[in-house]
Amino acid sequence: MGYKIAVIPGDGIGPEIVKQAQRVLDAAAAKYGFELGYTSLLMGGASIDANGVPLTEETVSIAKASDAVLMGSIGGDAKTSPWYQLPPNLRPEAGLLGIRKALNLFANLRPAYLYEELKAACPLSDEVIGDGFDMVIVRELTGGLYFGERHTEMVDGLRTATDTLVYNENEIRRIAVKAFEIAKKRRKKVCSVDKANVLDSSRLWRAVVEEVAKDYPDVELSHMLVDNCAMQLVKDPGQFDVILTENMFGDILSDEASMVTGSIGMLSSASLNETKFGLYEPSHGSAPDIAGKGIANPIATILSAAMLLRYSLDQDEAANAIENAVKQVLSEGYRTTDIASEGCTVVGTEKMGELIAERV
Ligand code: IPM
Ligand code: MG
Repeated sequence: MGYKIAVIPGDGIGPEIVKQAQRVLDAAAAKYGFELGYTSLLMGGASIDANGVPLTEETVSIAKASDAVLMGSIGGDAKTSPWYQLPPNLRPEAGLLGIRKALNLFANLRPAYLYEELKAACPLSDEVIGDGFDMVIVRELTGGLYFGERHTEMVDGLRTATDTLVYNENEIRRIAVKAFEIAKKRRKKVCSVDKANVLDSSRLWRAVVEEVAKDYPDVELSHMLVDNCAMQLVKDPGQFDVILTENMFGDILSDEASMVTGSIGMLSSASLNETKFGLYEPSHGSAPDIAGKGIANPIATILSAAMLLRYSLDQDEAANAIENAVKQVLSEGYRTTDIASEGCTVVGTEKMGELIAERV
């Protein structure tokens, strides 16, 4: 069995971490008897340098024709990189938003899980951590403020900027269905997060989520206002199973949830459309400050590759093997610098990839 994987190494630490994820994928493929063919594609800053634009038709069409996309990270240092002298629609991030839209990747899954071995890196007190936590944020990814009409103009002599937050019921329904489907296979709880005390889009969100919930009588639905959710994530993270939310709230809450686990370097993500196709990338950014130093943590990308195997290729066994290999390496005491604690063996990006690949 052979699969076509489009690979977008991207910018900053992207190429280093993706290389290790491919190495681990190859180990899993060899062990479980399937073949992976990779096509490397440009996006973000790397594409700006080569093509003058952050996303080309070619990248979109090759990605579309593949079984799944594995991505590193895109973007550079906004203060020093020439990419940020360009108009906003030509900057690296526009490439990421463009490919999400072009591939209709409306469902972004971001698991936040506390590894027993990394408890020391968790900034919360033992009392708050309790028995740990294991949640997944289901973030709507192709609507809302990110894709609404925006412009800046002069109004009565004042520079005035407008962004618009639009959701129709179909966009809300399809992401809600994803969240309930995921909850069904977990602890059967969906917490839908909105700002229904202020926003019309949130009131519609709540109404549609209630409708969808009727089809899932065994899943418990609750609603939470986004400001309260931001607080609850650091007060009692164990209460959450699946958090369902719109694009902007999900962007913010997923960074918070990841930090609560101790390191953003550990968190994977999957962006899916209606089919099995998806784009898989770490939740963290391109970390230009440590790019090329060989110290970046490749685990988030490696775990994203495991999600790719599970969701897009139905290679569950291989996905489990990768996740177990990560746990094993951590329990043997190996750490990259971002998750290092006393008594551990600090290793670089390549070594971490090698250790995990060996244990698959
Ligand atoms: C993310 C990132 C992106 C987003 C940026 C780079 C546009 O923060 O994937 O969370 O806001 O969606
Ligand atoms: Mg973000």
